[in-house]
Amino acid sequence: MAGLQSLSLFALCSVALLITAAYVLTTAVIQYWRLRKIPGPQAAAWTNLWLLIRMNSDEPFYHFRRRLAEKYGPVQRYGPNRVMFSDISAIPAMYGTTNPIYPKADNHNIPVAYANGTQVLSFIALKDDDKAARLKRNLHSTFTTQGVLSFEPHVDHTVLELVGHLNAAGSSANLAQWMSWFAFDTIARIAFSEDQGFMKQQQDVGGAMQAGQRRFDHWNFYFAIPWLDGILYKNWWVRNSKRPASALMRLALRAIETRKLKGGLGSHHDLLDLYMSSAERDPELYTPAAIIGLTMTTMQAGAETTAFTTATCMYCLLSNKRVLEKLRLEIESVAPANESGWELPSVSVLRKLTYLEACVKESQRLRPTINIVSERVVPAGGATIAGVNLPGGTIVGMNTGGIYHDPSIFGWDVDVYRPERWLEASEEQRVIMNRGNLSFLAGKRMCLGLHVAWMEMRKVVSALVMNFEMELAHPERGLKQSAGIFAAPTDVQIRLSPRRFGRQFIIHSYPRYFWMAIAQPQHSRESSPPIRAPGLAEPITQEPLCKQIVVPPWRATEAGYGRSPRRWTLLLLCLASGAVALNMLIQYFFPTLLGHICHVLALFSVTIKLDNSTWKSKVPDNAAYWLEEHRTALSTMQGNYWNGSDWPTSIQWVSAFMDTLLVASDRSFAYTLGSSDISARSGKSLRSEIDHYLSHVEAFYDDEDVIQIFDAAYDDAQWVVLEWLEAIKFIGEYPKYAQSSHGRANIARFAHRAHIFYNIVQNQFNTSECGGGITWNPALATYKNAITNELFLSSSVAMYLYYPGNTLSDPYPSPRYANVTNTTLPALPRLAKHDPILLRNAVDEYQWFKTHNFTNALGLVVDGFHISHNQTTCNERNEQVYTYNQGVMLSGLRGLWEATGDTSYLRDGYKYIKATINATGWNVHSHSLRGQWAGLGRNGIMEDYCDAPANCSQDNQIFKGIYFHHLGLFCESLPTKQPLVAGVTYTASSGVSATHSSNCASYVPWIEHNARAALGTRNTTGIMGGWWTASHLNKTQEPWLAWSPPKPKGSIDPINEPWLLRQPPWTRQHQRKDLPSDKGTSRSFLNAVDFSKRHRTDFLSRDINDKGRGRTVETQASGIGVRITKEERTVAAKSLSNQSLKEPFFAVYAESFFGIIGKSPSIQLIVERDYKIAHEAPVYVPGDDSVYFTSNVLRSADGSNPHIAISKASRQRDQSWKVQDIPTSISMGNGAINYGNDIIFCAQGTKTEAGGIMVMETKDPYSATTLVDSFHGRLFNSVNDVITHTDGSIWFTDPTYGFEQDFREKPQLPCQVYRFEPETGDIRVVADGFGRPNGLCFSPDEQTCYVTDTDMVHGDGVDPTRVGTIYAFDVIVRNHSHFLANRRVLAMADAGIPDGVKCDLQGNVYSGCGDGVNVWDAGGRLVGKIIIPGGVANFCFTKAGEMVMLNEERVWIATVSDEVQGALLHNLGIDISRP
Ligand code: HEM
Repeated sequence: MAGLQSLSLFALCSVALLITAAYVLTTAVIQYWRLRKIPGPQAAAWTNLWLLIRMNSDEPFYHFRRRLAEKYGPVQRYGPNRVMFSDISAIPAMYGTTNPIYPKADNHNIPVAYANGTQVLSFIALKDDDKAARLKRNLHSTFTTQGVLSFEPHVDHTVLELVGHLNAAGSSANLAQWMSWFAFDTIARIAFSEDQGFMKQQQDVGGAMQAGQRRFDHWNFYFAIPWLDGILYKNWWVRNSKRPASALMRLALRAIETRKLKGGLGSHHDLLDLYMSSAERDPELYTPAAIIGLTMTTMQAGAETTAFTTATCMYCLLSNKRVLEKLRLEIESVAPANESGWELPSVSVLRKLTYLEACVKESQRLRPTINIVSERVVPAGGATIAGVNLPGGTIVGMNTGGIYHDPSIFGWDVDVYRPERWLEASEEQRVIMNRGNLSFLAGKRMCLGLHVAWMEMRKVVSALVMNFEMELAHPERGLKQSAGIFAAPTDVQIRLSPRRFGRQFIIHSYPRYFWMAIAQPQHSRESSPPIRAPGLAEPITQEPLCKQIVVPPWRATEAGYGRSPRRWTLLLLCLASGAVALNMLIQYFFPTLLGHICHVLALFSVTIKLDNSTWKSKVPDNAAYWLEEHRTALSTMQGNYWNGSDWPTSIQWVSAFMDTLLVASDRSFAYTLGSSDISARSGKSLRSEIDHYLSHVEAFYDDEDVIQIFDAAYDDAQWVVLEWLEAIKFIGEYPKYAQSSHGRANIARFAHRAHIFYNIVQNQFNTSECGGGITWNPALATYKNAITNELFLSSSVAMYLYYPGNTLSDPYPSPRYANVTNTTLPALPRLAKHDPILLRNAVDEYQWFKTHNFTNALGLVVDGFHISHNQTTCNERNEQVYTYNQGVMLSGLRGLWEATGDTSYLRDGYKYIKATINATGWNVHSHSLRGQWAGLGRNGIMEDYCDAPANCSQDNQIFKGIYFHHLGLFCESLPTKQPLVAGVTYTASSGVSATHSSNCASYVPWIEHNARAALGTRNTTGIMGGWWTASHLNKTQEPWLAWSPPKPKGSIDPINEPWLLRQPPWTRQHQRKDLPSDKGTSRSFLNAVDFSKRHRTDFLSRDINDKGRGRTVETQASGIGVRITKEERTVAAKSLSNQSLKEPFFAVYAESFFGIIGKSPSIQLIVERDYKIAHEAPVYVPGDDSVYFTSNVLRSADGSNPHIAISKASRQRDQSWKVQDIPTSISMGNGAINYGNDIIFCAQGTKTEAGGIMVMETKDPYSATTLVDSFHGRLFNSVNDVITHTDGSIWFTDPTYGFEQDFREKPQLPCQVYRFEPETGDIRVVADGFGRPNGLCFSPDEQTCYVTDTDMVHGDGVDPTRVGTIYAFDVIVRNHSHFLANRRVLAMADAGIPDGVKCDLQGNVYSGCGDGVNVWDAGGRLVGKIIIPGGVANFCFTKAGEMVMLNEERVWIATVSDEVQGALLHNLGIDISRP
């Protein structure tokens, strides 16, 4: 019977347990399902234990939140029912100002306290928004910027007291501690007009601080599971239990009681008075319990928050001396110290200090002290927040960890303390930054005491900065912040001493009573007399109200919270173990979850190191450094992956490329050996390395899987051709081998293999489909792709140049071939060296490739073309972009130049390279945009689409290395004396060679940047990873799916998703009869095999580069591909002297510049001469779509005969430009402007001819007449630039450059600006006082005239102490005359001088400067530059969205947004649309 009973009890318990388990599981699944689309840690999606553990770990939750945002993007799930946003567009929805707002979530129940069964009102915890609004209505006016001024004397008092104490504190202090004492005393004074003597006693009087801390700890602990706090602490028994009141409550009670004795209502300017007077008006709302609660919560909300913020701000200042000094200067500007010291200014003065405000805001951003997510609940019915649909009841909050480190909001240097960012951002950006600043929250429930806090912070920070010399005692320790709801700075130890002003210590400026107060024994207060602060009506009592009450900390609580929460940890750990056990069960049944679980565990064990790596970082970049890195990387690859004859973990074509790299490395080592700057000893060791690797190459020749690759796709075969041609090249260049019989034997067998493999593709160029090109893989439907065809170009021309001929006719790649494949091959046809057919193949291939629209809008080469059913043209483009497709043709183009001498091949190469570099974001100058996907990378680092999500196939892992290898081949210096092959190839003129060197040199910083990024991914064994960007971002710990760039529209990725090859459009409709059925299948087969290997994700690793296929021989080789060779360095060094030949580009300084340059800006060279043909004027004549311009001063070889030519460049139908010399009588023409159908020129004159303003016809014979040549009978100096006003007047500048350049006699007039009326002949000086007035223009409304002063440049050279500045003047009319008034600086150019100047219709100001055309907005803010290396003297707007820039030997045309139009032509009514 007993057995039966116990059995049924057991059964009962089991059933109950099962029901509970089923309930828990079902709820978990439902919860999980509701938000399954929101990314976030898997564990968080299932249980709130995850959040509980995170919030109670030692790491501030804030840091963790930042990591979540970085990993999962702008929306993250952090609990089964919790979603956080780091997208600021979510703020208004969550914390809006309009009704109804989302209610506060349940965690706000936790800090609620009960006294004798009654809930004590807490502002922050109050979930009833209506009630909160009603409460605030009465208080609002007191908490406004103006209202808080009534508390200013309280703040002054405690600030001055603090300064006094710190003076007495000796040479060291814990600032964190002092700030807490200060803030408590201040808020107590604001609350009750009486401080508690925290500062005086230098301790937590009455345990109030500790009690507050416990309250927050408690909140933090139960935050994730508020229901548990409800059960444990808010139950009936606890609520009604009699417990001693906390220190704060006792303080509030006592203050209320004694207030009546101290004058009652209206006798004090403090919060208590405010609350009591509110109670008079609305006794139902402001009950006595409410008053106690309000007093307590404002104190609690206002003390530690202010203390922590101030302490962290001081920490930031002390660790940034530059900022500290700048701040001092700003404060001194409004409140200078005098001999007797420094006086604390009023808050209305301090509010004007924008830098001070920025310093505080920046510390709140970088070192936030509020660690809580202010949670709200999505109303029933659900909502869409920031584009994300969420069901009703979801708990939402903002993730400030993500926002404060979002480069698109705060700039790329988000990890740096830089207050300037708050001031220098554009207005729009500043709005975004301020919106993202949630330090005081936002909307209806934002901090009530915001202005009180700002008053305190402004005052105390200024007082500390101005009164003390301070430094961190232990800067090396960094700032430690506690975990929990507040990230409290735990220890800010400083060394300090009073600052001296004049002969005095600053402290002397404080009233005597401070000395008296400080002179009190530290823990006694009885005998101190009342003291009076300046401007303070109330005598200061030194009697702390709660002094006698000493409560053991653990009892200083109200009912409802306060026990040490840690003891629950045990219980939770049990729960956690249960969850883990459950997970194990699931894992058993659903093994696919294993990965996720490991992933989550790995997540827990992660410690992120946030890196301060800077953009375009600097490390030693000399050739020796790169040589060492190269050697190390290569020996690591061979040491780890080479088995003596092969890289067994790789696939055939990749091995062929790795062998190519090995030879290319040997080539660059040999090049280094040939240079003089290598010591004998290191030369010897390098030589032996060369031998060593050559022996690897030879061994691989014997072991290469030639049978497999022979039957692979057409691209695969060509990697083998390039491999052995590279080896032949090396032997030819390295005398030690070239002359040996061993070397000659190698050349013969390498040549034979190259020939065999080239023979596979030699006749595959097929014009019947798509007009040419080679298909990728004959086993698939026709797909003419970039790589196969680029390889055909490169291999054909490399065969033409390097293949030495081959007498063998054996067609078999291996003696075993016939046996293994059972196939007989025809004899290998003979192929002579330099056979013209090879060059023909290359030329035809490139011609086809170029005309076949392989490039997308960014100029990047897309993957290839399919042919639709029943079509013969390539009509289905695959928009997929891979890195290697951008590079392989480069070596081909270089070879084509070598073989033909046609520089257009090189120019095309530069274009491709430029497009690639731009697509990595290298030239993006906006901080916020730099890190964004730019088409083929970001942060200037090349990246494939598969890199960030770590799903690259084995093929793709080596692509970047291929790109850089071929770029390296392209950039080898051009021969100028000895052609590569005498009688066959060409040499370059010195100009072409210099251009090539210079262009290639300009790529070197980018290549080095990528090389550093690749090296930065090395693990402890020195193996590089595949996602180079990871090292730059230092997000090496986790795959960062949020960083996966969206694939281009219309793209299919067969390389990384090889199963696609089994589907249309790759599957063949009709098997081609001329091919063996299995020909070409090996690649797809290999890909499929590879795919199974790919998913060996190492979940437990912290490093993204261990994910996916992880670090492999391919990733290592890829890194080696981006080697910086001695050759490249030499090319770079060579061209440093020829800076002017670098590539132009757009540099963006402000978002508004994007509006100017439009969606597809471009810069094109339209004229190039070997003398300075293009210097000044330019004038656009729309009638014949031509631009007139003047040359620089030209002279005969002996320096005599100075003259200036005028040219006219006319656009032809094919968009090329024809340049024509204009015969002219204008002597030394310079600036010019349209004048009806004619042109006004500035004639500078010569020593024998007068200059002046002349009008030239735009028709042959271009006759010219002088309008004016002198002023007051004195000849002009050398008129420089000219504009016309809509009233018909002509305005011009007249500096003295003619004399300084020795073609004019001594000047007779000052450097001035003139206004000339042709109708009346009236001429007046409208402005003077310039160094060298130069360009000038009107704003679109002609209200402003801009004049550039180029005084920095004289005939005697450049003097940086003189101006290079654009001045703005108001154009005013007084007494019917025009004047230039209110001269002011618009901007000073940062590079060279601003020469020609023009406005667009929006009022932006453009000027030709030392580095190109610089653009400022009308407020003088630089918004962007059109960088033209060598600079631009002058320029003109032509058609809408177009401008022509004069760059001495070159003329460039920039295409920008159609909206951009020059103001001058517009105002003159010249129709620019005429051509
Ligand atoms: C630098 C100092 C301060 C910071 C960073 C700060 C921050 C905040 C934040 C973030 C909240 C919103 C909390 C939430 O609902 O999640 C808040 C609310 C509040 N703060 Fe402050 N605070 C500061 C100083 C003060 C001061 C000096 C006072 C009082 C004199 C004060 C009184 C309040 C009150 C009453 C609320 C509740 C408002 C409501 O729920 O409607 N705070 N504060």
